[in-house]
Order: sequence, then structure tokens, then C-alpha cells
Amino acid sequence: MPVSPARAAAFEILMRIETTDAYASELLHSARFAKLSAADHGLLTELVMGVSRWRSVLDSAIARYSTQQLSKLDREVLTALRTGVHQLLFLDRIPQHAAINESVELVKRARKKSAAGLVNAILRRIADSQISPRRGELEQNGFDFRSTHPLWLVERWERIYGPEATRRICEHDQSPPHTAVWIRDSYPNDKTVHDGIQLQTGRLLTRAAIVTAGDISRTAAFSQRELVIQDEASQLVALLVGTGKNILDCCAAPGGKTRIIAQQNPKATMVAMDLHPRRAKLLRSLVSESNVHVIAADARQMLLTKSFDRILVDAPCSGTGTLARNPETKWRLKPEDLLRLQAYQIEILTAAIKNLSTAGRIVYSTCSLEPEENEHVIEKVMVADSSLRLVDCRDELLRLSDSGELAWKEIDSLLNGPYLRTIPGVHPCDGFFAAILQKH
Ligand SMILES: C[S@@+](CC[C@H](N)C(=O)[O-])C[C@H]1O[C@@H](n2cnc3c(N)ncnc32)[C@H](O)[C@@H]1O
Repeated sequence: MPVSPARAAAFEILMRIETTDAYASELLHSARFAKLSAADHGLLTELVMGVSRWRSVLDSAIARYSTQQLSKLDREVLTALRTGVHQLLFLDRIPQHAAINESVELVKRARKKSAAGLVNAILRRIADSQISPRRGELEQNGFDFRSTHPLWLVERWERIYGPEATRRICEHDQSPPHTAVWIRDSYPNDKTVHDGIQLQTGRLLTRAAIVTAGDISRTAAFSQRELVIQDEASQLVALLVGTGKNILDCCAAPGGKTRIIAQQNPKATMVAMDLHPRRAKLLRSLVSESNVHVIAADARQMLLTKSFDRILVDAPCSGTGTLARNPETKWRLKPEDLLRLQAYQIEILTAAIKNLSTAGRIVYSTCSLEPEENEHVIEKVMVADSSLRLVDCRDELLRLSDSGELAWKEIDSLLNGPYLRTIPGVHPCDGFFAAILQKH
């Protein structure tokens, strides 16, 4: 029996996610799957993201109807089961027999023929059972948002942000986030309908917009980078960097923030650095601003001869502020990762500060919700270096408000003390943290 292209591709991507540290969103946009029809690509995305978002809920349904413990099942078998259960529970328009039969076929193709009967039996029991709750019913039945994320994450967010904000974060992470764009000056600024897409004014920034209809990636404005897909909180972090003459962006790829900083500083010289040559190359292909020099280097061992008056360290992090976009991350992350990431972040920030000129400013940012990677990094770096002073992000937000760039009126809600702090589900954007440090 044949397997549809979308399900075969979903199984391949989900297995890659299980066995490597690849990102679902990057695999979905890779050349390998570019030839799928729009409908097949839509189903592929729904399956990969849906299985990653709802993994724990799918696993408890499987556990309820399986005669074997989940931990005893081969990865291929569990992946085929999750894909089948996701279709049964969440996708109304897919016939049950297609969901079941193709999952059985995927297991056979993965050379796990002996598990075909088990997969068939579990999926049939789930299809016949009263639990078949489609998504709407899950919500109506007072579905427990706490079961959608690893408990250790939910419990720490409840401690840090309180139960209400935690509920909002979890619920936000369970749906595809809206698409926000950065708009170049040259694009018509009435922002309503152009090129077959519909835009709504940004919620945080006046230069941003939210795509409310149409496929932006098929527009000329997208190809010419007059419209660039980028979350509004990420855009805001880039604007916090302000203006300078010599600017360094030391964890820069794929270059979303580099592009905005370069456009805001057309006369400045800018260096954009990334550790991975492949990612530095990607940045070069995406950021065409002529004042940006791209280098592949380790920011912890920078060999730069000059100093910079503005530096951005957009550090690699756990990404817990962007789980709606990268849902697979929540299952990979372990509590002990936070301190390992912190040590790495401190190394990068400390090295970057050495290249900061007197009176120069450095913005440290992450898309993490975890204090270990945010406030604690800043506190530790400041204890070790008395030449640094914290600049209150409020002052910069007021500057952006006065200049008409910040649309969001409740400035205090974006702040946690002197820091910028956005929370997904609470604010209309990803979760970002930023601190601004100045050298005496
Ligand atoms: C959060 S991402 C940056 C996103 C980027 N600023 C943007 O807005 O598009 C972090 C980046 O840091 C890079 N990176 C990780 N370790 C690094 C290091 N030691 N030196 C330089 N770059 C590093 C990663 O390759 C990754 O591209």
C-alpha cells in the first residue's frame, strides 16, 4: 500500500528530530521538501508541528491503549503511532482508515513489520474509543494545559511568572504563532492590502505588521526583502541597540537583527559574526546591506583589532520563549542545560565586552524565559567587571516611543526592573529578554 508524500515526509522529519538536534522549522523549509504541492506541504507542516506540540497528550492516549510500555517501543514504531494518533485526535478532515493504514505502512517500511499488528490495534482502539476528542472537545472539557509541556518547565514558570501567565504561555505554545514582518522604508506604508496579502499594523512597533491573509513568501516584496518575516520582539531588541559608528553583532545568523541595525545605521561600519561558517554564509545571502561585513568566528575568542561603540550579543539559548515556533525543543531541554548554557553565555558576553569602547553600549539578549540565562548572566558579568553600568531599558523604550517607533503604550508591562521582558501569550510576540550595559 502506498504512503502519501506528506505522511512519508512527516515520518522522515519526525525521525530526524528524534535522532538528531535538527530543528523542525529548518527541515520543513529545506530543499528536500520544496517540491511537494502546497496542499501536501500544508499537511506535512501540520503533522510535524502538531506531533511536536502535542507529543505528551498523544503519548498518554497511546499508553492507555497499548499493551506494551512506551519506553519499550522502537522509535520508528512510536513515531508512526504518534503521527496516526495526531490525525485521529486533531485532524477532522482526515478519514480514520487513512490515518490508521498509512501509519501501519510507515512501520512496515521502516522495517519494523513485526510491530504492524500492534500499531493497527492501538490506533483502532483509539479510533473506536470515546476519548477520540477532537481539538475543540479537548478545550471544552477543561483540558489541562499543564500536560502539554514537561512538568519541570511548567512548575518553574509557575514559580517565576505565576499560574495565570504560565497558563497563557502554555496555551500560546500550542498554536501556530502569527506571522509578523519588518517593513523596509521603501514599502508602501498604508500597510493594508498589497501583492495579494493583507497586513495589519504591528502591535509593538509601528514599522512592523502582522500578516492576516495571503502567502507572503510568494510576493515580490518578500523576494526583494522589503518585507522580512521576523517576530516583533526580535525587531524590538534590534532597535534597542540604537545608533553607533562601529557596530558588532557577534551571534548574528540568520541575521534578522543585523539587517535592522544596519538599516538604522546606514553610515556605520558593521561586523556580523557567527560561529558556524554555514550559518555565516546563510546570513550573507539574506542580508544584502553593503555596510555589513560577515565573518565566521567564535565570539569567545574574537581577534578583532578595533573596538565598537555598539555591540549586540543575541546569545544562543534554550529558546523557551519561542516554543510555539520550535515545539520540539521543549522535549529535548533538561533542567541541567540551563547552567551549561549560562556558562557559555557568560563566556561570549565577557569576550564581547573586551571589544567595547569607553562609553559604548552592549545589548545582551536571549529568547529564553529562564532567569539563569538572563538576569543571572548579567549579574555575574557585572560582579566580575566593575567598569559596567546597567542602562534602564525603560529609557530606551521611551526614546522609541517618542520617536514614534514603539506602538505599544503600556511600556511598564514590557519591563522587569531595568530589563526588557516579553512573555508569549501575555504580550503579542515571542518571549525575549534584553539588558543594556554601558562601559564607564
Ligand atoms: C539566537 S541565534 C542568533 C539570531 C540572530 N541574532 C537573529 O536575530 O537572526 C544565536 C546564534 O549564535 C551562534 N553562535 C553560537 N555560539 C557562538 C559563538 N561561540 N560565537 C559566535 N556565534 C555563536 C549560533 O550559530 C546562532 O546562529
